[in-house]
Amino acid sequence: AQNSNFVSRKNSMGVNFSNDNELKALAEAVNAKSGPWTASPLVPGGESKGPTVQVTNPADRRQAVGSYVSADAALVDKALANAVAAQPSWDRLPAASRAAILEHAAEQLEARRGEFIALCVHEAGKSLPDSIAEIREAADFLRYYATMARRLFGHPEQLPGPTGESNQLYLNGRGVFVCISPWNFPLAIFLGQISAALAAGNSVIAKPAEQTSLIGYTAVKLLHEAGVPAEVLQYLPGDGAVVGAALTKDPRVAGVAFTGSTETAWAINRALAARNAPIAALIAETGGQNAMIADSSALPEQIVKDVIASAFQSAGQRCSAARVLFVQEDIADKVISMLAGAMAELKVGDPGQLSTDVGPVIDEDALKILIDHASRMDKGAKKIADAKLDPAMTSHGTFFAPRAYEIPSLDVLKREIFGPVLHVIRWKGSELPQVVDAINNTGYGLTLGVHSRIDDTVEYIRSHARVGNCYVNRNQIGAVVGVQPFGGESLSGTGPKAGGPHYLLRFAGERTLTINT
Ligand code: NAD
Ligand code: ALA
Repeated sequence: AQNSNFVSRKNSMGVNFSNDNELKALAEAVNAKSGPWTASPLVPGGESKGPTVQVTNPADRRQAVGSYVSADAALVDKALANAVAAQPSWDRLPAASRAAILEHAAEQLEARRGEFIALCVHEAGKSLPDSIAEIREAADFLRYYATMARRLFGHPEQLPGPTGESNQLYLNGRGVFVCISPWNFPLAIFLGQISAALAAGNSVIAKPAEQTSLIGYTAVKLLHEAGVPAEVLQYLPGDGAVVGAALTKDPRVAGVAFTGSTETAWAINRALAARNAPIAALIAETGGQNAMIADSSALPEQIVKDVIASAFQSAGQRCSAARVLFVQEDIADKVISMLAGAMAELKVGDPGQLSTDVGPVIDEDALKILIDHASRMDKGAKKIADAKLDPAMTSHGTFFAPRAYEIPSLDVLKREIFGPVLHVIRWKGSELPQVVDAINNTGYGLTLGVHSRIDDTVEYIRSHARVGNCYVNRNQIGAVVGVQPFGGESLSGTGPKAGGPHYLLRFAGERTLTINT
């Protein structure tokens, strides 16, 4: 039997890579445009005097991708005034009408897939498979939250009461929601947050990551064309410390949906708490220090295949990515030797080529953090594997070759390393409790991979590890909307989980109506 939260809905289809016609159409669409794209704030009645920022391709900084105009403080104020005025009528629309607009946007997004793939490749440096997945996930979020809005907001819940009394529970939008997103899922997380907030009846101010402002702009325009009124969804690109901070300290904001680093989540939490205003709802999905535990009952080939995908797909720039492999001593040498062989085969290069496994990292700041980490590791740890990188690639693009280090314990890692670096720790068969404790003691709790054929081991880990998403005998990335609700606990996030049945409720207020009949 299906539980009452089961959502009957189909997820978006991808591209069939074995079909030549589909591949040809994909290549034509991606090559049709590499820029220039332009973007600016979308705030009816307002204009920004903020700076214009040039956007270049992370794979080749000589290639201009476009430019965007940043929002300034005056525009933040105007956007908030618009959002407050527009929210009540959007909230009073039937949930089915809001849902239909979001579903229409999902269709449009798929119809314009080529353009969005080109943007993801050129602005975000995403590989072709990652770009395709990005569009699929964004469409899935739009449809999933539309379906959930119909179910949860379509009619009040009838509650029991004494004879002569009717009791009903209504859900409504909270007011103005600010959606602040990261660059690593510039479409999926960006549209996921926005579509949930809109589905629940909120007006939205969307603040994209600085690095992916062109993608955000194109997506917001698409939602407007699909029928979301311009005052109900506004767009404010710009510096997080300026635009994001101005938004989150404003008393008119009823809620914030944030995805990004744990440090920024703390800053937002402090800003919201310092306001002399109603307490805002905060959904903060943040970083991780994700591990995979492999015991000697697991197949080394499968461990290696899954850890490579988990650690290096998307150049390791996924919050879900594996950073540490705990491998049981008995099979460690074999796994490390196979890992070295497999990593030597990884192709690091142009994200627009289908043969590329690992594209660039997002920018110079990200690259510097990785280079600094690697030079620390080169001094204090043993490098056990790496991928080849043509030095010519690094003269114009922010490329970093995947590598793996053997380290003695998790104490060596003080912070999340957001890129293609894997750390390997050996453990003895009797040490499973200590391994799980060490993972819990990082304070993070996002994803955990497990490779084991021993039911008791899997059950021990499941019941002791404090993580949001645990994956057994597979890779630990790529949560599917409505299938693997995604999000962490502890330092990794507040919940509720994106793409899960409870997510919309955090965007909603509740009102009880009692009528003496
Ligand atoms: P970030 O925290 O630097 O920035 C995220 C967003 O916050 C950006 O839009 C930025 O402009 C904005 N911002 C920055 N300072 C702000 C402030 N003071 N007030 C308001 N907004 C501000 O993160 P990032 O580098 O863009 O993304 C990478 C991080 O995101 C990693 O830590 C990764 O683990 C995390 N992430 C988490 C999830 C998840 O679901 N848990 C998903 C993707 C990424
Ligand atoms: N939802 C993304 C994943 O699972 C972050 O990889």
